[in-house]
Amino acid sequence: MKKLRKAVFPVAGLGTRFLPATKAIPKEMLTVVDRPLIQYAVEEAREAGIEQMIFVTSRGKDALEDHFDVAYELEATMTARGKPLDALDGTRFPPGAIVSVRQQQPLGLGHAVWCARDIVGDEPFAVLLPDDLMVGSPGCLAQMVEAYEKIGGNIVCAQEVPRERTASYGIVTPGAADGRLTEVKGLVEKPRPEDAPSTLGVVGRYILQPEIMPILAATGEGAGGEIQLTDGMAALIGRQPFHAVTFDGERHDCGDARGFVLANLALALKRDDLAGAVRAWLDRA
Ligand code: UTP
Repeated sequence: MKKLRKAVFPVAGLGTRFLPATKAIPKEMLTVVDRPLIQYAVEEAREAGIEQMIFVTSRGKDALEDHFDVAYELEATMTARGKPLDALDGTRFPPGAIVSVRQQQPLGLGHAVWCARDIVGDEPFAVLLPDDLMVGSPGCLAQMVEAYEKIGGNIVCAQEVPRERTASYGIVTPGAADGRLTEVKGLVEKPRPEDAPSTLGVVGRYILQPEIMPILAATGEGAGGEIQLTDGMAALIGRQPFHAVTFDGERHDCGDARGFVLANLALALKRDDLAGAVRAWLDRA
């Protein structure tokens, strides 16, 4: 089994559910407490042993690359003033560890992943959607890697979702289950509640084999007129092992204002330096 070394971060979406915040700022640069969403996802990948981060970006998203670049003036000025640089720790990587490729048109998540095919090459790879902020210890991708090292194949992260919300998720047709691991017998993108094969929803973390790339190249438009990653993954089922890992931790969907505000509160309440003030304010509100 090949070691998992690469992760794809599809960050080329338009973020229309979070306008006007995302008109000039990438959704993935929105800040939860004190760091942008992309940094949480990149730190999660690094914790899971990922060596190369591949951003699939688009026009107007340069801030994502800048965030992980060396900021000479900032570092020189801080050093000259005797200020420690440790606040920048999660943003420093060796040359070549962060690479990017553009998705010229927002044709869907499946298409965004396919845009990274030449950088991924003939290796398994992870996909992380930064607007799903996963809080857990070990981190979400590390939990999935632990399962991957035992069973290989393809693995999606899953979570029980309310039946009335199935139309917002890819939904698993479940097979045999063993603790947090469930065999995936089928995947359906955004089914209506009455059509959903279960309430096990796929959330934004995946470990995929490179054979998905030619399948994505041949995948036509699916739900919403977009090339769906779910449709590509569904075509792999039966050809390769496919499992879902139920994440042991909290997920915050930061793709809209509601989830984003709750994520800020949840993470602030976990911080010793902030929890007291936030709780006191909430108690008064
Ligand atoms: P979303 O479904 O959240 O789409 O994409 P979006 O465009 O970001 O946001 P809304 O729905 O308009 O508000 C899930 C992930 O897939 C990426 C997004 O950047 C996000 O990380 N994506 C989506 C792409 O990279 N390219 C696409 O064509 C579509």
